[in-house]
Amino acid sequence: MAVLPILTYPDPFLLKPVKTVTEITDEVQEIIENMAETMYDAPGVGLAAIQAGVDKRIIVYDPDADCQKRDFQVLINPCILEYHGSKVSEEEGCLSVPDMRCDINRAERVVVEGLDREGNSLRFEVEGIPAIILQHEIDHLNGVLILDRISTLKRQIYKRKCQKMLKNE
Ligand code: NI
Repeated sequence: MAVLPILTYPDPFLLKPVKTVTEITDEVQEIIENMAETMYDAPGVGLAAIQAGVDKRIIVYDPDADCQKRDFQVLINPCILEYHGSKVSEEEGCLSVPDMRCDINRAERVVVEGLDREGNSLRFEVEGIPAIILQHEIDHLNGVLILDRISTLKRQIYKRKCQKMLKNE
């Protein structure tokens, strides 16, 4: 297992949707293990393959973020079928958007579909923190960052801060 480098904004790879997984190969299993390792190392509660520069629709998540138990969930080719209710996700952060926390409007409950790592179809409803994590990670697979879900003003402030940091490097 290996900890993978996490791409950060403004890396252009983060801004384009990634590809559907057509076959669950040994390579895919290895990517999943490395993604989990990377998530626990960060530490984070979720990670999308795109964040590690992998052009595949795979996410891992663990709302408990317990690196001892390593009881993480995997979803391949996930998509959200239904959105119910709305809530403000407070101080949401992202490993690919360093030094940024923001309140984001999310659905309270979602119905999600996808495959597990054995290729079985899953369809389930989640609410609370896991619902937020899934919305966040599935956004990633579609090239959407938390920066796309905040006000234009806040986004411009963050972009300017990043440009300054890049210049000073
Ligand atoms: Ni993120």
